[in-house]
Amino acid sequence: MNISERVKSIKESPTLAINSKAKELKQRGIDIINFCIGEPDFDTPKNIKDYAISSIKNGFTKYCPVTGTSEIKKAIINKFKKDNSILYKENEIIISNGAKHSIYNIFQSIINVGDEVIVFAPYWVSYIDIIVLSGGIPVIIETTDKNNFKINNDDIEKKITKNTKAIIINSPSNPTGMTYSTEELKIIVKICKKYNIFVISDDIYERIIYDNNKFISILNIDQNIKDKTLIVNGVSKTYSMTGWRLGYTAGHRDIIAAMAKIQSQSTTCVSSISIKASSEALSGTQEYVKHMVQEFEKRRNYIFKELSKISGISCKKPNGSFYVFPNIVNFINKSFNGNKIKNDIDLSNYLLDTANIAVIPGSAFGANKHIRLSFATSIPIISEGIKRLKSALMLLK
Ligand SMILES: Cc1ncc(COP(=O)(O)O)c(C=O)c1O
Repeated sequence: MNISERVKSIKESPTLAINSKAKELKQRGIDIINFCIGEPDFDTPKNIKDYAISSIKNGFTKYCPVTGTSEIKKAIINKFKKDNSILYKENEIIISNGAKHSIYNIFQSIINVGDEVIVFAPYWVSYIDIIVLSGGIPVIIETTDKNNFKINNDDIEKKITKNTKAIIINSPSNPTGMTYSTEELKIIVKICKKYNIFVISDDIYERIIYDNNKFISILNIDQNIKDKTLIVNGVSKTYSMTGWRLGYTAGHRDIIAAMAKIQSQSTTCVSSISIKASSEALSGTQEYVKHMVQEFEKRRNYIFKELSKISGISCKKPNGSFYVFPNIVNFINKSFNGNKIKNDIDLSNYLLDTANIAVIPGSAFGANKHIRLSFATSIPIISEGIKRLKSALMLLK
């Protein structure tokens, strides 16, 4: 078929692909432990579902404004004010069909062919392909577990060129679970000001943060970069609403207007029911989030403790999100029954085939010495999975 060069330049999301393979094996009756899951295993809270149901019954089932209803925008504006002490107006907010769609529309709005975007590895899989689809060039800066995945000024300065248009940050991070410190955010602010580049801050895991730590927004460091900052967030992870598909962006009204133009010619608006449900999620009781995060914290402690006991694995304790990203480099070049494990992908396939556990190879995130495990699953399942992981790794010689 005559597929466009644009589509040929990107790949399918590897995390979604592996997750569907794991689901398929499970459906065939194979006892798979799936550590690939990128969504909370809790149900969407009842108050949210009830509000959506009553909206359907009340006939709220028609097209909505392209950038979102006043109700959802007010809920988002209040969220920014209450949680982050940042003030936005309605024309500085746009909702999209998930945070992924928000990020897609941001890059479509700001990138010209050949513009460069700085991405820190390990990165969320979709950044690279979304940038490429917009005609941009991802410029990757590696960070390593040896250094707690910290960023530094010199590494960034070295990568800045006259084509640098933006930096994207994600804290807490998928896949590492790390959060940026005030010092790191100050570096980003300094670079943004010095070179007049955009900062896209993907805050989707903002509320999933542990040890009583408080999320720091890039704009809490310096509000002077507000015009060049695009904050992305959504309801998927915080309210266990991945299927409802609602993300939002806050930023300069001109960028929001550009994103609105794209949406007006592509998706029109977010589903009216999802808008209602998300308005309730953002403005209703937040009790559920507290319980979910407490549960995730227990699991984080458990999986971290158990992984750390496995000889040959080294692992940083995640500060947020629901992923751990252990270093598995000690198992590369080992063999099982004469078959050599050449890389993280071989290791992930080996774990799926011999131990029935699905993990995501770190190379999907630009870090091939790692694998990613999601702990968005119960402690008994994590316990069984780690037992299998340990036995399978011990068989490698
Ligand atoms: C870092 C990061 N950003 C954005 C998203 C997209 O979330 P949404 O479901 O709102 O599209 C995800 C989902 O996995 C994510 O991990």
